[in-house]
Amino acid sequence: ASLTIAVLVGSLRRESFNLRLAEALTRLAPHDIEFQRQRLDDLPLYNQDDDDDQPEPARRLKQAISAADGVLFVTPEYNRSIPGVLKNAIDHASRPYGQSAFAGKPAGVLGISIGAIGTACAQQHLRTMLAYLDMPTLGQPEVFLQAKDGLFDDDGGIGKDSREFLQGWMDRYVAWVRAHAS
Ligand code: FNR
Repeated sequence: ASLTIAVLVGSLRRESFNLRLAEALTRLAPHDIEFQRQRLDDLPLYNQDDDDDQPEPARRLKQAISAADGVLFVTPEYNRSIPGVLKNAIDHASRPYGQSAFAGKPAGVLGISIGAIGTACAQQHLRTMLAYLDMPTLGQPEVFLQAKDGLFDDDGGIGKDSREFLQGWMDRYVAWVRAHAS
């Protein structure tokens, strides 16, 4: 059966490495997997006062995640954690209490930064959130990428040095989603 995966990218930057990574990764998946990148830039700041009348962009995000078989998080590290853009989106889609869109959805986490630790701190914080949100999250292999020449090929795919590693990650992730999708 075909699967749909909601993709949340933690950077709004036009030339974002994480966006490029997310797009290159989708090419490593089987053809029956549909990746749907979610728009996060029009979400207002989360305000609990609006829980009984969530803003339209938040409802759209929740609907897409609820309909998806899995969620893929691709995020930069900002000040040793995830960007506020991503945290805001997670807060929206997790509420109102008891009506989280995330519960039970299998997740994958990756990130790329210009720093040598390759978003490790951000991913660790994110994993804490995903555990609380009751998302079965692929543990291994971990993907901590540092942006350098050749990571992406001229075509926007994954360059040859990292392709085998990331193909292995994608194969594990797809199996993980198939095993946990309800
Ligand atoms: C950064 N950057 C960064 N890098 C890192 O490895 N650890 C960090 O804690 C931070 N902190 C941080 C804070 C803020 C506010 C910015 C703007 C940047 C650098 C970051 O890795 C770099 O900007 C990446 O290019 C961001 O990812 P995208 O936008 O290319 O996907």
